[in-house]
Amino acid sequence: MSKDKFKQQFAASTAEAFKRVYPEVYKTIGDEQVFAPDFVFDNLETPKDPKLGWFSLPVFRFVRLLKDKPPEIAAKVAAETNALVDTAVDLTLARSSAVAGFLNAQADHSVLTPQTLGEVLTRGSRYGDSDEGQSRNYLVEYCSANIAKPMGIGHLRSTVIGNSLRRIYRKLGYNVVGINYLGDWGTQFGKMIVAYRRWGEGTPLDGNAVKPLLDLYVRFHDAAEEDDSLNEEARQAFRKLEEGDPEITGLWEKFKAISMTEFERIHKMLGVEFDWITGEAFLNDKMEPVIERLQKDGLTEISNGALVVILDDPRLPPCLLKKADGGTLYATRELSSLIYRWDKYRFHESLYVVGSAQADHFKQVQRVVAMMEEAEGLAEADRMTGRVKHVEFGWVKFGDKTMSTRRGNIIFLEDVIERAVTLAREKIIEKNPELKAIDETARMIGVGAVIFGQLSVKRHKDVNFIWEDVLNFEGETGPYLQYTHARLCSLERNYSGSISPEINPALLDHAEERRVVELLADFPDAVADAARAYDPQAVAVYLLRLGGAFNKVYQRKDDAGRIDRIISDDTERSAARMALVKAVRTVIREGLLLLGLEAPEEM
Ligand code: ARG
Repeated sequence: MSKDKFKQQFAASTAEAFKRVYPEVYKTIGDEQVFAPDFVFDNLETPKDPKLGWFSLPVFRFVRLLKDKPPEIAAKVAAETNALVDTAVDLTLARSSAVAGFLNAQADHSVLTPQTLGEVLTRGSRYGDSDEGQSRNYLVEYCSANIAKPMGIGHLRSTVIGNSLRRIYRKLGYNVVGINYLGDWGTQFGKMIVAYRRWGEGTPLDGNAVKPLLDLYVRFHDAAEEDDSLNEEARQAFRKLEEGDPEITGLWEKFKAISMTEFERIHKMLGVEFDWITGEAFLNDKMEPVIERLQKDGLTEISNGALVVILDDPRLPPCLLKKADGGTLYATRELSSLIYRWDKYRFHESLYVVGSAQADHFKQVQRVVAMMEEAEGLAEADRMTGRVKHVEFGWVKFGDKTMSTRRGNIIFLEDVIERAVTLAREKIIEKNPELKAIDETARMIGVGAVIFGQLSVKRHKDVNFIWEDVLNFEGETGPYLQYTHARLCSLERNYSGSISPEINPALLDHAEERRVVELLADFPDAVADAARAYDPQAVAVYLLRLGGAFNKVYQRKDDAGRIDRIISDDTERSAARMALVKAVRTVIREGLLLLGLEAPEEM
């Protein structure tokens, strides 16, 4: 049973118990406060010490209402709740215990353990799936790197968050479309073209051209600081591109092909997938109808020769649709793309996993959409307002420095991944030189370290990338979880019995084992929490807890101070523990996959 369901049950049985213990008060106020399950639910807290239970209700808040002392209230209500639970079939899990002025909710392990192990072991990788999504369309846009520039570390964060969200919403039953919206249009291509023509002779436009192209771009910016006419030249080149000049278009297509090959290679290394690769240029013929629509809605104005929408939120600057020279902008393409996606998918939600630096841009276009839908008086079902989310995230810093392409002090994503794989390889050889698939395992671990390092920090916060930290096999890292997973696999390999959920739950009665069972029961909630917060971090943190809790079982000592081995001569106990092992292995593996990591079976 999920924790949320348990919480509801506990709230319901406690509210009922309050009614029975305090009938006089109930008669006067009816289904309010402690007598209302929703009220009890909202007042439940999570105890700091998990041993106390899953939830607790501080009863001293109700002293005035009930005219009774806290320990009395707690003791009477707990006894009544448990009496109820003992007689009701569907409340079997939510036992109550009174500790001072608190009512603590504890799961009855004789029920929770077989139920949870049974569910995990029978459902396997489908444990935690839900039908919440009901196959509704869910759009997640991520990566969205710019062509003719190498993919930098900033795009890494978007890529790994989005890739994981795509997997999480799939698990919840949505029809997810993972989108890569390439930055393949805009004035910067004018700059690229000018730079290539001036200094690019001899730069072969082949698979290795991305870094030389970046050098050209940086060189352009340096030169344009001295000589402003270069900027004008770039504007003209871009105009020609917009007009479809064949020679310039040919160059642009080459830049694009080079970048696409490079991006594909990096996505493959990372194990990242998309369902739709598109880009800004795709909207070239879709902007005019949108502009006309906004004009018809009476939302546009001319300001200094430019076409703008003045927003009804005074904190936001006007949204620029067309420059005085008739050129369109990033926001014009964004708006057209929003409308296109809504018309095509009628999505349940549409996420944009893009750094916080673009927060205003997303607010602006969302505001324009809201004003448009309002002006047109669209029915609720035809409005996308409220369904579009900018999933922003903080910076990635290396030694406290942020990176910028313009200045050329960029850290290449590919170099980061390669370095991680090399370091992982060294560590594996040191730990387990006998391992057969060293290269393959090093790739899984190096990549996993980089991904997990991004996802284990709440997305709003900055990530400080430190090599020693992300690759530490003992710290709060991807490799630590992968290592735990491999260790569980090896226990399974070494066990000669067959593993089944039909075990005696009383044999998993150590506090360490109970904690693991409770965490296993929590997995569906962790996935749902991540989905609700648009942040895979909830799953990452959950896995660290589960891994840590299992390692306590693994290292548990018996009364004589010896390690209490999972597999021992006690066959019944070994069978119970191996069911736990397999359940933990199943959940860690599924959790890692949801985050976009691989789960090697040996390392
Ligand atoms: N290409 C942009 C950049 O690298 C990000 C695009 C984000 N997505 C969007 N729909 N605007 O800065």
